[in-house]
Amino acid sequence: MKAAIISDVHANLEALLVVLKDIKKRRLKSIFCLGDMVGYGANPNECIDLCLKESKLTVAGNHDWAAIDKTDIASFNPVAAEAIKWTKEKLSSDGAKKLKGLELAQQVDNLLLVHATPLNPMKWGYLLSLEDFEKEFNHFDQKICFIGHSHVPVAVYQDDNGYCDLVRDNPFPIVAKRRYIVNVGSVGQPRDMDPRASYAIYDGNNNSIEIIRLDYNVPLAQQKILVEGLPEVLADRLLAGR
Ligand SMILES: [Fe+2]
Repeated sequence: MKAAIISDVHANLEALLVVLKDIKKRRLKSIFCLGDMVGYGANPNECIDLCLKESKLTVAGNHDWAAIDKTDIASFNPVAAEAIKWTKEKLSSDGAKKLKGLELAQQVDNLLLVHATPLNPMKWGYLLSLEDFEKEFNHFDQKICFIGHSHVPVAVYQDDNGYCDLVRDNPFPIVAKRRYIVNVGSVGQPRDMDPRASYAIYDGNNNSIEIIRLDYNVPLAQQKILVEGLPEVLADRLLAGR
């Protein structure tokens, strides 16, 4: 199986369209979406529709659940909370219905798909340090777990002795005696100081994974955010990639 894994589109239609075009160009037939289709950006309904239409499997992110009151926004920072309030007003009944139907985790072949963490996906914890990743390997059985949530693309492996480390190559080979947690980065709001949209390609035929980065029309996405009256910082951060 060969598949594209996308995450954290965050209602950024410009970034999503470029990513989907690239996926089509590479003739990848399967797309898996790791959630946070909405929040922050100006096109929530369009992004929900496109993600669900194009993806074979989609899991819920914390912003998806917040937009339909399934997650309390008390833990959200003020800007994220304001964006969710705006999203709730904009959300179509069809969009809300689609978000309500999402599961927290999905499995396909030897892959686990989850937005935040395998251990407790509903807690929406962040895996930031190597130690954070290391603890999670005991809480799933699959060979590879794909996650999003932090908006920072990174891959960590654990060998069969329990030793964990960062994967430093891109693309990188899937090694027989290793398991992996791969954060695919964010399509619509990257936070690794690189403003380009991020997604991953899983190639189960050739045993490799690659993080892809793509330029998109950042000024247009920024302009839409400002026109909608969303917080200016949400436009600024797209260009900064943080
Ligand atoms: Fe997110």
